[in-house]
Amino acid sequence: MANTDNDLVSRRRALMLGASLAATSALAACGGGGGGSITGGGVSSSSSSSSSSSSSSSSSSSSSSSTSVSALPDPSTAPALKDHFSANFLTGAAIEPYDLDDAVMKALIIKHCSSITAENCMKPTAIGTAEGVYDFSQADKLITFAQANGIQVRAHTLVWYQTAPDWFFAGDKTAANYKTIVLQRLERYITDVVTYFKGKVYSWDVVNEVIVDVGGTTTYREDSPWYIATGADYIETAFRAARAADPTVKLFINEYDTEVQSKRDKLVSVIQGLQTKGVPIDGVGHQMHIHATGDPDQAKFEAALTATEALGLINHVSELDVNIYPAGDFSTDYHTAANVPASIMQSQALKYRMVYSTAAAHASVKSVTTWGIADSHTWLKSVPVRLNLPLLFDEQRLPKRAFWAVVDPTFVP
Ligand code: XIL
Repeated sequence: MANTDNDLVSRRRALMLGASLAATSALAACGGGGGGSITGGGVSSSSSSSSSSSSSSSSSSSSSSSTSVSALPDPSTAPALKDHFSANFLTGAAIEPYDLDDAVMKALIIKHCSSITAENCMKPTAIGTAEGVYDFSQADKLITFAQANGIQVRAHTLVWYQTAPDWFFAGDKTAANYKTIVLQRLERYITDVVTYFKGKVYSWDVVNEVIVDVGGTTTYREDSPWYIATGADYIETAFRAARAADPTVKLFINEYDTEVQSKRDKLVSVIQGLQTKGVPIDGVGHQMHIHATGDPDQAKFEAALTATEALGLINHVSELDVNIYPAGDFSTDYHTAANVPASIMQSQALKYRMVYSTAAAHASVKSVTTWGIADSHTWLKSVPVRLNLPLLFDEQRLPKRAFWAVVDPTFVP
């Protein structure tokens, strides 16, 4: 209910506007991992498990619920997320190659992740230097790390309107064969890239964010350069090329706001259209960039999962994070973890529990990935620039109340 269609539209527009500009600053801000001012008092910084101090959940406002919340357990007793959910799904995180230069971050990833995703370095802007020219160096770093540590790789993404290099669209746009040329470039890119990673990744987000934002009147995102050049045909071309290059890798359509029925209905109709034409598609990636307060509730998340199941496809939660600010709120800034009201971190923890427990109840969910792993590095500190603490581990890389809520059903966050 908190997320009206208009809220969602403005939230996404602002995020997307900021996102492309943010890449550089995010890299700078997060370089070497850790970074930033870390003041104590964060949610899990008081790791003294002995004291049952509910005040460990930060801030001054823990008064009302402080009598009933659980003490924060000793971080050294934290179970590995990948073991906890080994019977259900792979547990993953999106990471940057530079995260691996940080020993604490690296250890955290190895302990908890059975899957990793490249936050940016497998996108076309990172790999597709020019037509037929590729740079796999950063992606290779992640693949090598994954292979050395028995971690699988969820690959993201072959086609995204925000990372579409100009060379794909070069040429005379009025020429009769322009569309054919663009689709041939796409086919070549996907063939080469999927072939390169064949046997090294278990799934690909073949297309990302192709449906119009909530509130839009069209079905497709029509201001995408792909749509402008080819109509919706790039989607079919992309899936067919990916399948031809790798017969077994799982092929995904990845989207946000799949919990919102109006958008999901469009996604479902697009998938049905592809299936009718025999286009190979295996699953839906639900991004799940959600908020501590407001939608989605369990019923709405579950509706997204069952819609996919009804299509005969599998589910991935592909980019989970839980923003501490409400949808559409871009002006608040808590500045440091110590200022964040305990009630927000408690809501966040319950939201995380809802997502993981609901996902675990659906055999169709094969992978749950958070967009980052610890609050020291999150894209949400860049769009807009402000404090955000959206992940399961805090800025010191210690398990948050959200983590304990996920792995212990008796924990009261
Ligand atoms: C984001 C990255 O996290 C940022 O570092 C980058 O600046 C922009 O892209 N949906 C997606 C992801 O599918 O690829 C986006 O990742 C976050 C939103």
